[in-house]
Amino acid sequence: MKSERQIIRMPDATALAQTAAERLIARLEANSDRTAVCLTGGSSPERLYRLLASEPYRNRIPWRRVHWFMGDERFVPPEDFRNNMAMARRLFLDMCAPPENIHPIPVQAGTTRDAARRYEIALQTFYGSGRLDPARPLFDLVLMGLGPDGHTASLFPGDAALDERERWVIGVAHAGVEPLVPRVTMTLPTLASCREMLFEVSGPDKRAILAQVLNSDDLPAVRARSLGDTVWLVDAAAMPGSSHDT
Ligand code: 6PG
Repeated sequence: MKSERQIIRMPDATALAQTAAERLIARLEANSDRTAVCLTGGSSPERLYRLLASEPYRNRIPWRRVHWFMGDERFVPPEDFRNNMAMARRLFLDMCAPPENIHPIPVQAGTTRDAARRYEIALQTFYGSGRLDPARPLFDLVLMGLGPDGHTASLFPGDAALDERERWVIGVAHAGVEPLVPRVTMTLPTLASCREMLFEVSGPDKRAILAQVLNSDDLPAVRARSLGDTVWLVDAAAMPGSSHDT
């Protein structure tokens, strides 16, 4: 695993989303076969998702050969506004992606454990093996966000989920932040199986926790690394010590 992270400074949230879109398209272009993108929830990727549904980006994405997964999900019905895949569907997937290429976490399952097991099987079927081969990453790109407590996906500080090495997806009974609903999340080895992991961090609310991340404190978002490239896109408002006045 490459241990270093690349931190890229962006002037603002608009430039950050445009750069994220360009990086996503570059990863799709680099792989002429079937490709897979792992999405994230929260508010950070919303601008990016809107861009993907708009020109010139929309026309540059080979929609038929891109499969869309979700790194973590809030255990609420598929149509609930808090559901991460509902947000991605509303902002771009339903307008652009073939329905069979959209792979939501099955929140209709009875328990988070059942949902995790079913999604794990879906991922393993897609990948064609129950073992992740470092030479053959599961995802071309994994998008990530940074929570106020340093969580990423639904991997919260102090949770045993952080140490999971065998399971690809697990249930999380208690979320550390709002919405306080149970979660289902991919584990660190699953998220690491990608050519690029791309964090989007924007706005002054992220400044304090980002200072800890840049200090490499022991936080879930710091432990999350790609086997390939780990890239953090950070805008001026989120950068600790910046003179950005907000
Ligand atoms: C979720 C996310 C979560 C998110 C961070 C950042 O389900 O909430 O997947 O990990 O990325 O909490 O959230 P914001 O982008 O809203 O700040």
